[in-house]
Amino acid sequence: MVITQADVGTDLDAERQARFPLGARLTIDDLSLAGREHRLDELREAEPVTWMPELGGWLVTSRDAAREVLNPTAPMTVEVEQNMVRNSLGPMMLTSDGESHDAQRRPFEAPFRNRDIEARYGERITALAHRLIDAIEGDAHEPWNLGTRFASPFAVLMAGELLGLSLDDTERIDGFYSDFAGAMEYTGDPEPMRRADAARGELTALLLDELAAARRTPTHSLTSQVAGDDSHGLSDDELAAQLRVVLFGAIETIQASVMNTLYLLAEHPDQEAAAMDDRTLLSGAQEEARRLIPPVSFIERWTAEPVTIGGVELPEHEFVGVSVLAANRDPAHFDDPLRFDITRPNASRSLSFSFGVHACLGLHLARAQTTGAITALWDRLGRLRVVDATEPEGFAFRKPAVMRVAAAGG
Ligand code: HEM
Repeated sequence: MVITQADVGTDLDAERQARFPLGARLTIDDLSLAGREHRLDELREAEPVTWMPELGGWLVTSRDAAREVLNPTAPMTVEVEQNMVRNSLGPMMLTSDGESHDAQRRPFEAPFRNRDIEARYGERITALAHRLIDAIEGDAHEPWNLGTRFASPFAVLMAGELLGLSLDDTERIDGFYSDFAGAMEYTGDPEPMRRADAARGELTALLLDELAAARRTPTHSLTSQVAGDDSHGLSDDELAAQLRVVLFGAIETIQASVMNTLYLLAEHPDQEAAAMDDRTLLSGAQEEARRLIPPVSFIERWTAEPVTIGGVELPEHEFVGVSVLAANRDPAHFDDPLRFDITRPNASRSLSFSFGVHACLGLHLARAQTTGAITALWDRLGRLRVVDATEPEGFAFRKPAVMRVAAAGG
């Protein structure tokens, strides 16, 4: 059942502002811009569950309270009229609750199992990375843009492969992504939503064709895998809806994971040298990078019923934002949390892949892609020197806006 977010009147808002003075002063910029992270640390200390008027909802910054929100037993929902992800991408697993969510996710669980990922996608990941590096290698000692020349096309090409879309469709896939993302921010302008509706229609048509083609001639794609399984009872439209979120979930996240890991390693040359020397350390390095700079920095829920989170009573049908960035820097769980340490034993206990029923479906693939991309770069180009980079930032997705690198070797 899709609910409507409750309208909090001015009196209640004022009462909450008086009760949560730090949250009352917090801005969206504080959640987005680089250099403001300490404000979230202060907030977690004083008001780990706070009222944030600029967000029109509650903000959670401690890891314990965040886990309470994401816990499968918490009365939280994503089936809400104001859910911009649902409005942009359409109803699918990430924007559905309960049994409906489980039915939509189930057919995709086997294809994303850890043991199948390496066998199915390992070589493809490496081949795609090498294909992109072929075009960079000649002038890799000159500064080049890691995002636009490598990390972004790498993520887009891999998403295309997964879905079984032609590699010639890269630009189109990128376009779909931008149209969906553009409609997730409310500006009052109806145009972004119109573009997302058009993108949804076009992508769905491609996916329905691919599902039909895969039944005639199976391929290696995820689309083909789910098309060939008729045990799940989902219609082709329902399958296409899940494939749309797979496409959306696999692009900016992967781009950020590759860039943030290389960014932090470059800032810590000793750890970078250690990981280049012993590649088994790369797994801990990417986990720790995702903890400190989470590619997905913010998770949204709404209260389905009144609930107490971190000792604060939240009424029904209100918005609750989880700051993954803040929760991952919680000193109650991570020793010396601002230190980047690729051997940190519990880095994987961060909330970067979320937790609970919506926990990232593609996490094993994401790990394999991040490792595959960085391994290929190091194998072909050696160490990458950062020529200039902006500090990672962003409200929903966090990464450097620009990161120019050059092969360091002579
Ligand atoms: C480093 C890269 C990635 C990060 C940091 C990431 C992060 C996340 C997070 C935080 C969520 C949960 C959001 C919530 O609880 O509301 C999520 C869900 C999801 N992710 Fe990922 N993701 C990554 C890569 C991928 C990839 C590569 C795929 C697919 C190929 C993928 C597919 C999905 C899907 C389908 C969901 C929805 C699951 C559900 O609702 O049951 N993700 N991801």
